[in-house]
This record gives sequence, C-alpha cells and structure tokens, in this order.
Amino acid sequence: MRAVDIIRAKRDGGVLTPEQIAWMVAGASDGSVPAYQLSAWLMAVWLRDMTPEETAALTEAMVRSGVRVDLSSVPGVKVDKHSTGGVGDKTSLVIAPVVAACGVPVPMMSGRGLGHTGGTLDKLESIRGFRTRLTLDEFRAQVADLGCALIGQTDEVAPADRTLYALRDVTATVESLPLICASILSKKIAEGIDALVLDVKTGSGAFMTREEDARALADALVGLAERSGLKVAALLTQMDEPLGRTIGNALEVRECVDVLRGAGPADLVELCVELSALMIRLGRPGTTMDEGRAAALEAIASGAGLQAFRRIVERQGGDVGMIDDTATLPRAPVREVFTAPRAGYVARLDAGLLGRAAVVLGAGRARAEDAVDPAVGFELAAVSGDRVEAGDPIVVVHARSSADVAGVRPMLAEAVTLADTAPARRPLILDRLGLAREM
Ligand code: URA
Repeated sequence: MRAVDIIRAKRDGGVLTPEQIAWMVAGASDGSVPAYQLSAWLMAVWLRDMTPEETAALTEAMVRSGVRVDLSSVPGVKVDKHSTGGVGDKTSLVIAPVVAACGVPVPMMSGRGLGHTGGTLDKLESIRGFRTRLTLDEFRAQVADLGCALIGQTDEVAPADRTLYALRDVTATVESLPLICASILSKKIAEGIDALVLDVKTGSGAFMTREEDARALADALVGLAERSGLKVAALLTQMDEPLGRTIGNALEVRECVDVLRGAGPADLVELCVELSALMIRLGRPGTTMDEGRAAALEAIASGAGLQAFRRIVERQGGDVGMIDDTATLPRAPVREVFTAPRAGYVARLDAGLLGRAAVVLGAGRARAEDAVDPAVGFELAAVSGDRVEAGDPIVVVHARSSADVAGVRPMLAEAVTLADTAPARRPLILDRLGLAREM
C-alpha cells in the first residue's frame, strides 16, 4: 500500500477499507508513514468524515497499535467512566472508590487537564507522593487487590493515538467526530474494561459548547462503543456552570473528600451518585438504578467509599494524612475575595470564563508541557440562584500573589452575572443515552 493512494481516496470522499486504515495507523505508530502524510490524511478525514464502519476499524487499529490489558484474572465486570471534561469536574475521585466499595472493579486510566478543563491526574498529584504512573503489572495487581487503580495512560496503551493526537493538535484536525471517538474509545478499550459510562458535557465550560454538537458526540461514542463490544451508558450533562464549589486541583481533592464524608455540594453529589449507579448497574447485572443509587449513597454514608479512597492513595504512594486532614493539602499563600458589586441573585457563573481564569492563575495548562500549581484556584462562595447583598463574597481566589488576583478580576467580573430575579433552575442531567435510556 502507499500512503498517497489512501490520502487521495479519502480526499475524494471514498470509503477506506479496514486494511487501509490499519496500514495508516501502523505507519503512525512505527514511524513508517511520515508526519506530513499522516497530517494530510487527518485533514482528509476531517473534511470527508468517516462511516461508522471506518470509525470502528480506526478504533480497532488504534487499540492494536499497543497492548490490550488483560484483566481476565480479576473477577467481575470491569467498568470505567469517561467524561468529555469540564470545569470543576472532579467526579472520578469520588465515583471510582465508591463503585469499587460496592464490589465493581474500576480500572481507571485518566488524562491531564488541557485548556480550561481540568484533569484527574493533576488533581491526584496534588496529594504528596501520589504516583499516577504505574506499570501495567502494578495496575492489574492493584485492581485485583483493591478493586480500583487511578493511573495515567501508559506508553503501551494505544501509542498510535499519541502520535495522531499530537498531529491533530497542530493541524486543526481535533474537532472531528470519528477522530475524537476513536481516540477516546481506543484508550478505554485497551485498558481492559467490559463496560463504560460516559459523561458528555455541554455548555460554555465543555469541549462541545453547543448541545446539538454534544448530543452528536454522545450518539457517536455510544454507537462506536456498542460496535466495539462494550456495554455503554451515557449521560448528557450541563456544563454552563462549574460542577461543585471548587476549581483548582488541591481545592477539588478537598471537595471530593467532603463528598466522601457525606458533606459535598448537592450538584456534585447528584452527578456522582447517578454516574456511580450507572456503573454499579452495568457491573452487577440485575441491579436496578434505584438499588445502584442506594448502594452508592450507602458507600458514602458508611464511610466505605472514603476508606477505599484512602487505600488507593496509600497503595499509590500518596500521603494519606492529606486525606485525613485536608487542611494539609497544598495551600496558596494569597486568598482574596471577589464580592458582589450590587445586591441581586446570582444568575450565572460562566464555567468557560472561570476555567480560563483558573489557567491564568496556574491551576491548568495552556500547553501540554506546562506545569500546574496544585494550590491555586477558586472557591465559589455563592452559586446560581443564591441571593447576595452588595459586598457579599461570590468567589474566593486562591493565588500565588495579589498581582495574580488582580490579573483575573476582570475575568471574574465578566463571569458573574447578577439579576433582580432568581434564575430558573436548569437540570444538571439533560438526557440519557445507550443503556442509560433503559435503566
Ligand atoms: N479526548 C481525547 O482523548 N481525544 C480526543 O480526540 C478528544 C478528547
């Protein structure tokens, strides 16, 4: 085969064979197809799209570019969760231990934050010593022993995705449904799971801001996951406003520990319980959604979820003292308050703007190689629907310096909308797809 023929076929709107797709993907992972031809091919895919069959072949080829973790020695249905990312989206740290405490194994491979959306690995690394890079043998052993491991993608998992994603990033070819779906699902399939719960977010703080785009992504992900033999349930959820009351790595770990102690904010608890229930439902066939919700709530109320989280932190080298006393998590030297300029109701806290302001403080990264500061971020003293008087705190800024706070004040002023009447409450869960529709 020749790369130029495959590029031309796609450029002209043709449908590629699984063999052609597998050949290009193999060329991406072994370096035999140069970056300029891979880039041209990616652009042809972006412009001409792929059929569901082509997308399935691409996913399969990307899985086969590396190892597929064999978790057959771990009894039970292995279930993971993937979120398309949002601001203050910290559910993984709660649901992984909660679901594991309910007896469903959770082998979770997560990513880092990029742009205004946070990443699970950055949050975990705000716990001193926490190792997110385990070998696959360590990963397998921990899932067998504790029912859960929380790690980053290893070099062996879907290496073709790393090459292709890096090229997409610099060739304006990220926003393509088949490329996004194959990228996300190849990594999930390769980690050895049987079932997957998807949280597809929409709104200003999401990857897909428009609901129809997020819905199309959710439909495509569900269709592809089903084709690939995974049991899949998905939620379409609102990300116009941050989830919970914290944005920033250590602040978010603290909030997750609060949830595991039974004291988290209502929206975060609601989503964690719903996602956990879906995972439990997939992992324990015959369980109803109500039983799944009850099991998740019981794991929180009994402390079993918190104990599971402590064991995971300990096993991965993290300082459990920081979980027992969250005041010892990294703390920023400066705390200043953004107050209400007038009396009214908080009508909107723009998640996208707050996420970008958090990146400016150092909580996130603008480029993949940037370092993050675990201590900085925002605490929301008031959220949508709250009544505030002039001068009341709305956002507590945790920063490295007063100059940094001054730098984000204009963004906060734009992110916060006050109104004379209370806003209508928008539901957090907008729709249910895949098996979630029937549950
Ligand atoms: N996340 C991924 O892992 N891949 C994409 O292409 C987009 C989001």
